[in-house]
Amino acid sequence: MKSQLDAILQREQAVYLDSLTPRRDALFAEMESYSERNHIPSSDPEVALFLEIMAKAVKARRAIEIGTAIGYGAITLARAMGNDGRVTTIDPSEERAQVARDFMRRAGVEARIEIIQATALVALPQLSGPFDIAYIDAVKEEYGAYLDLLVPRMRSGGLIIADNVLWKGQVATGRLLSPDQKASTESLIEFNRQFTEHPEIRGLILPFGDGLAVGIKI
Ligand SMILES: C[S@@+](CC[C@H](N)C(=O)[O-])C[C@H]1O[C@@H](n2cnc3c(N)ncnc32)[C@H](O)[C@@H]1O
Repeated sequence: MKSQLDAILQREQAVYLDSLTPRRDALFAEMESYSERNHIPSSDPEVALFLEIMAKAVKARRAIEIGTAIGYGAITLARAMGNDGRVTTIDPSEERAQVARDFMRRAGVEARIEIIQATALVALPQLSGPFDIAYIDAVKEEYGAYLDLLVPRMRSGGLIIADNVLWKGQVATGRLLSPDQKASTESLIEFNRQFTEHPEIRGLILPFGDGLAVGIKI
């Protein structure tokens, strides 16, 4: 969830757009309150809706997610792709994987999602692809390395989406919310340049959620 509603948009517009986000079903509503109660970062509902629309638009059958948390994005992708869709999602946290598995079982998509319990930089080199859609949502300092590993594993015409690339306003303004945000902010500035100038990606950054990079592999 974003902690600063007006980090990108004017507040009135952000509130208005939030009011248009469709109501989620009971399971997603429960996941949202679980994340909030337990301080676990989870995708914004409008970002999840965007993932769903994109997965359907490219008729995705294989999805890769970096950063599972409790499974909000992975369940969204599995549902969007239908019965022959498969999601691989990576997260080193044992505790989160357990919670995610339980939500996936209750969502009826457990059999179509593989959780790899490892760090992405260890797991990704062992995956072969090709993937139709990739969702980057883990360690901000590693986004560039994730991109390097993902691009060769994407099919041509596949989509790469990365969350939090405006990082609560810090990336655009350079004004840090706290000193410990320096490395992540600098890495995201570099990632956004790499993403938008990448010779194999046609991409842009959308000003919603906490900033979403979206690109198609050429
Ligand atoms: C923002 S959350 C992911 C939210 C999730 N994508 C969703 O849709 O709700 C980031 C996750 O990245 C995980 N993470 C931390 N280090 C990681 C690493 N090196 N590789 C992969 N995931 C990592 C964290 O455990 C955390 O659950």
